[in-house]
Amino acid sequence: MSRILITSALPGVNGVKHLGNLVGSMLPADVYARFQRARGHEVLAICGTDEHGTPTELAAAAEGIDPAAYSAKYYEIQKRLGEGFGLSWDHWGRTSSKYAEELTHHFAAKLEEAGLIEERVDRMIYSIDDKRFLPDRYVEGTCPHCNYRPARGDQCDNCSRLLDPVDLIDPYSTVSGSKNLEMRDTRHLYLLQTKVAGDIRAWVDTQTDWPPLARSIAYKHLDEGLIDRGITRDLVWGFPVLKDGKTRPGFEGKVYYVWFDAPIGYLGITREWAASNNQDWQRWWRTDKGADDVRYVEFMGKDNVAFHTVSFPATIIGSGEPWKRVDVLKAFNWLNWYGGKFSTSNKRGVFMDTALELLPADYWRWYLIANAPEGSDTAFTWEQFQSAVNRDLADVLGNFVNRILKFNEAKFGARVPAGGEPGPIEEKLFADISAGLADLTALMDGIELRKSAAALRALWVLGNEYLQEAAPWTAFKTDEARAAVIVRTALNLVALYGRLASPFIPEAAAKIVGAVGETATAWPTADASAELSRLEPGRALTTPDVLFRKIEDDQIAEWTERFGGAEG
Ligand code: MF3
Ligand code: ZN
Repeated sequence: MSRILITSALPGVNGVKHLGNLVGSMLPADVYARFQRARGHEVLAICGTDEHGTPTELAAAAEGIDPAAYSAKYYEIQKRLGEGFGLSWDHWGRTSSKYAEELTHHFAAKLEEAGLIEERVDRMIYSIDDKRFLPDRYVEGTCPHCNYRPARGDQCDNCSRLLDPVDLIDPYSTVSGSKNLEMRDTRHLYLLQTKVAGDIRAWVDTQTDWPPLARSIAYKHLDEGLIDRGITRDLVWGFPVLKDGKTRPGFEGKVYYVWFDAPIGYLGITREWAASNNQDWQRWWRTDKGADDVRYVEFMGKDNVAFHTVSFPATIIGSGEPWKRVDVLKAFNWLNWYGGKFSTSNKRGVFMDTALELLPADYWRWYLIANAPEGSDTAFTWEQFQSAVNRDLADVLGNFVNRILKFNEAKFGARVPAGGEPGPIEEKLFADISAGLADLTALMDGIELRKSAAALRALWVLGNEYLQEAAPWTAFKTDEARAAVIVRTALNLVALYGRLASPFIPEAAAKIVGAVGETATAWPTADASAELSRLEPGRALTTPDVLFRKIEDDQIAEWTERFGGAEG
């Protein structure tokens, strides 16, 4: 048993997240966490809201409340929605906590001691009409790299490059739309990333376990060359900039940049968790305090990779302290909404709250993981969603479970039947299932989630084929003992499927294992003959209601109409 630390990119607190956000970090992190717990590892999975910065200020202003109240509100809403989707974090925290604040000041002080912080007076965009500086998302314009418009001041949504507001072509204020802008002097702290670039590259060079998407993005940024980055902003919502415990002279009305404190949020959230659970947080994060044997796996969308392979490493490497660094960085491409993008501002796509009003979490979880944008961007369509639910869940898994339990109830009285010995058909099944189990386990270990879903489905198909071939309904007429072996084997398959499905569709999986009188969700070994003889004859069984309801064509028509699918 080993210890595994799992983080998923902390969703911005600005509003309810869409399915693309969910599948890009939180959901795969949960599937992986459940899998590793089932294998008996000690897992710490954390997530929470990323609360500071311009996105929150802008969203709060749109709702007419202050950023603190706004953050508190969406911290709760997102927590509830995450729980609704079965996300099994050990802790859901906030980047605005006192722990995160203390750590932010700690890192800033360490970096300064190391000579990596410099005060610079810069010319920044000031909006005359809004009477304020326009950092980051307060300004939009045309991306100087790819000409996309509107690119945000901090990052281009189209080419993912990190931007500086002054790089934008033909900029305008997002507060007022005003183009009446000028450059004014303002003082900021810079983190001298150029001084640690060599250390960061040397570390990335050793990270051969990172999947290709993360590695290639990291090198792209390293090859383009790191620049010293401003880590403070002219904003109100964030941590104040201090020196020796007091406001740093010249930094009144300024705060740390959200991307400086957000990743520190992982540490802060671990401290929140530790404080309320009588645990030692440093055991997970300090290699001099036991974290050297932690395997740290991060999940995030591709737009986050630069921050976690370059910017945050600059902070922790620059501190000179022995902080745990990521071992496996699993990045995701985009899930698109038909031909275009999900859009929070334009309310395009399905959002976490609406999704749960339409159908149970498991339906979405299965579809999303089976179609996760791992190798490339993928597109949500209602037809694919319908097919994933109806074919995989209803026809292949649900039908198998219900059919065998009903048959057993009718013929053997809702108990695991006794008698008979496995024959050649069972031997072949055991061999096939063993191979499939080994395959699935290896894919899950490698966090190949789409392929894992396909491998799991293949195991369900084997069960259906087995029943078809062994035909217990025919055997029952002539050889009751033979029918008993088949039914008993199939009931054991039900138990196995429940355990294997548990990371993907936890609610349905609990019903499935419950139907065969099991509570265990421990991950099975690859020894199928042992795994398929767990249920002792005589054990009482219950037949669950229909596990998955098929999605009807008229529902698809209605939702397409309502969510404006196809014309997107
Ligand atoms: N809020 C950021 C986003 O949605 C992610 C922050 S991840 C963190 O892209 F680790 F830095 F917090
Ligand atoms: Zn661009």
